[in-house]
Amino acid sequence: MKICVIGAGYVGLVTAAGLADFGNSVICVDKDKSKISDLKKGRMPFFEPGLYELIRRNIKHLSFSFDLVDSLKSCEVLMIAVGTPAGKDGNPDMKSFWTVARIVAHDLKISPIEEKIIIIKSTVLPGTNEKLRKYLKRATGRTDFHIVSSPEILSQGSALKNFFYPNFILIGTDSQKAAKIYTSLFKNSKIKKNKIIFTSPATAELIKYAANTFLALKISFINELSSPAELIGADISEIGRVIGMDPRIGSEFLKAGAGFGGSCLPKDTKALLRFSARKRVPLYVLGSVISANERQKQVVVKKISGRLGGLIGKKIAVWGLAFKPQTDDVRDAPSIDIINALVKKGAQVRAYDPRALKKAKAVLPNSIKFSHSSYGALKNADVLVIITEWDEFKNPDYDKMKKLMRRPIIIDGRNALNPKTAKKAGFEYEGIGRK
Ligand code: UDX
Repeated sequence: MKICVIGAGYVGLVTAAGLADFGNSVICVDKDKSKISDLKKGRMPFFEPGLYELIRRNIKHLSFSFDLVDSLKSCEVLMIAVGTPAGKDGNPDMKSFWTVARIVAHDLKISPIEEKIIIIKSTVLPGTNEKLRKYLKRATGRTDFHIVSSPEILSQGSALKNFFYPNFILIGTDSQKAAKIYTSLFKNSKIKKNKIIFTSPATAELIKYAANTFLALKISFINELSSPAELIGADISEIGRVIGMDPRIGSEFLKAGAGFGGSCLPKDTKALLRFSARKRVPLYVLGSVISANERQKQVVVKKISGRLGGLIGKKIAVWGLAFKPQTDDVRDAPSIDIINALVKKGAQVRAYDPRALKKAKAVLPNSIKFSHSSYGALKNADVLVIITEWDEFKNPDYDKMKKLMRRPIIIDGRNALNPKTAKKAGFEYEGIGRK
């Protein structure tokens, strides 16, 4: 069984390499020629722990190409894993998806292979499976293909762990044959059978949005609660940890901070909100999740401004630009909005991130200075702001910091430091939802 994975982004590349690791023969296709030529030379298009080694290990079963038309010819199973970034109106931009669909239609028209299986991995709005089925039928005159909605639940930074030890694998299809063949791709894996969940396509499509928006809801809830916690001198980290001990609540995603970012949570919350509004079934809770997240970034800006007595001319050191640790991705990262707001209010920013400097430079204003070391960013700073909780920030050399900074002030936007240690070292410390 030969598989064509279309799209060499986080989802596509991890899926392609993972399926190859189970002994399947996989070709991963991307229209970006430089990305493909890099992959062929063993260079990674982005940072994801363990992915380079996984690809290297499976290079016998895994090839790369930018020629989709040619690659599709020999494949029985194809997986669409192209990006569906947020469009200007908040809906996912489906351009790449439908471009691929047109090429798949062309392939179906000429292919002698019967009953090809088309798996949708990209995050797409509910109803896309049905729309694709109708389109392919109309465009090709064929009906002997199967479509599966199998949205991916990979988290950046731990994508390999998520792939090999998934909480669940979603197989959303009305076709028994497709379900059977898809399941067979995992036959050499250690994934337990009960982790493979069969649903209708529509249910699978909505599960993906339900999962991501629920995670966003948990974060916005704990972030909002951090304000009353501060007011009464309570500790939000303790609150999150203790309520999380109740399995009905669950301990994950209850860390208060500078807001959620990344390529999924912000985009998917907005997309589901718009989708439901269009269908005249408004989701009131979700609207609040989004506005609470926008507000949370401003909470950090206000804390900085409050401590410094205004921002004009103030020198601000920022530790952490990636939307979370273990990735170089800055898409919708809280750091971007926070830094833009600081600069707009007259502050000077010098930032450091262990992985995301290059990507951040491409989206931040030219006036931002970047440092190649965490301590380098602190020179003459009036305040240090932590926006991403990289491990290397967690036990800093406070004496060294004090010598470098103009004023010993820390705004910890991720509650990454131990407040007691920071204060004992002579710092003014302010976290989120705790003193
Ligand atoms: C998310 C989902 O977790 C994953 O299942 C889905 O397939 C894709 O989207 P990802 O975008 O990689 O994964 O990041 P995630 O780990 O969910 O973090 C998103 C944001 O929430 C980050 O900015 C992170 O810092 C923030 N976050 C997370 C919090 O602020 N508090 C938390 O407790 C957890």
